[in-house]
Amino acid sequence: MDKLIITGGVPLEGDVRISGAKNAALPILAATLLPDSPVTVGNVPHLQDVTTTNELLGRMGVRVMIDDKMRVEVDPTTLHDCVAPYELVKTMRASILVLGPLLARFGKADVSLPGGCAIGARPVNIHVSGLQQMGADIRIENGFIRARADRLRGARLVLDTVTVTGTENLMMAATLADGVTVLENAAREPEVVDLAQFLIAMGAKIHGAGTDTITIEGVDRLHGVHYDVMPDRIEAGTYLCAAAITGGRVRVKGVRPEHLDAVLAKFREAGMAVSQGADWIELDGRGRRLRSVDLRTAPYPAFPTDMQAQFAALNTVGDGVGTIVETIFENRFMHMLEMRRLGADIRIEGNTAIMRGVPKLTAAPVMATDLRASASLVLAALVADGETHIERIYHIDRGYERIEEKLRALGAQIRRVPS
Ligand code: EPU
Repeated sequence: MDKLIITGGVPLEGDVRISGAKNAALPILAATLLPDSPVTVGNVPHLQDVTTTNELLGRMGVRVMIDDKMRVEVDPTTLHDCVAPYELVKTMRASILVLGPLLARFGKADVSLPGGCAIGARPVNIHVSGLQQMGADIRIENGFIRARADRLRGARLVLDTVTVTGTENLMMAATLADGVTVLENAAREPEVVDLAQFLIAMGAKIHGAGTDTITIEGVDRLHGVHYDVMPDRIEAGTYLCAAAITGGRVRVKGVRPEHLDAVLAKFREAGMAVSQGADWIELDGRGRRLRSVDLRTAPYPAFPTDMQAQFAALNTVGDGVGTIVETIFENRFMHMLEMRRLGADIRIEGNTAIMRGVPKLTAAPVMATDLRASASLVLAALVADGETHIERIYHIDRGYERIEEKLRALGAQIRRVPS
């Protein structure tokens, strides 16, 4: 297992190119099961979760080829097994995304039921009940979701909670269903829109992606295409945080600034200078005092839960008191406890963290507990006095492509060593 060693105190400066979005690439790769001819997906990030997804497709008999530019070619016609085994699902919950496509295209799916998760219970009841309402016969047996359907039927589904992968699973399933499906209270995240655009390019009939009502008219078949994954808004936001916390200047390139409206508003509230062009954002924190901010996570277009931990890192050293309320996941404050080990002043009351900025953090060994928590510890370490060792960084490799290389190019003192 590797660890990261970071010596804090260097203001980061420079440009960084943002990779393809993990949370768009995963559903898009799952959706490659739907067409009846090969598909190529470009701008796929080189991440552990992508490797796991490709392995999952490979286990089903699907032919997956990856070139040196991370263009992934998938030929779903060789599939012989509609199973997502426990050993893969337990390492990546997003494996649940094959449930809808398998059922819609092949009439059956045996997908291991994901268990608990470090950030919350994360049930998949909405995925399951939506498919049942579309006519699937689903039983939970031996830790598996066993789903069968001759052909799914279109239905009007009102989702109890706004769920990103739930919306994606049902939208994918509906593309090949008989009749029209309407998803009410659908997730509006840009990754849902990216998936919809991919499905539309393959011949699906979808309207309203990006709003809370998505209408899908089922078609008989989908065909192969080439599609490039959207840029990762969370990776972009994380590098902007690195500029803010170190009092540096970073320009993220190859992004869609409109995906980060709520995040950019918070940077401005924190006293940072933010400018943007058609496909770049620059944050300049030089000579500016970072202020703590109050924020509340909520589904898109509000402030994303996937940026909460990174802003918590900013609040540890911001001027004044900032309050963070996490409304999406019930246990997404593990990083706060690690940040206390670096000297942060944080009080937690239920889903609220009250943070009083301290003049400086001091290095200590800390442990990454999940993906975004790891990113927040890296950010905190970038300003901590001394050498911070971050253990269990396999979490970070699930979602950040070459993070230490990208940070080093911006001037950070960071290295990866075996622990
Ligand atoms: N929920 C249910 N029942 C369901 C599904 C969800 O109660 O059937 C609840 C969840 O427990 C949670 C809320 O609904 O309280 C929202 O969860 P959602 O389903 O939207 O989360 P997800 O689809 O499992 C995706 C991202 C997460 C991101 C969340 C929220 C992917 C692969 N994952 O998860 O990304 O935090 O949406 O935006 O898209 C990450 O990248 O670090 C990450 C965790």
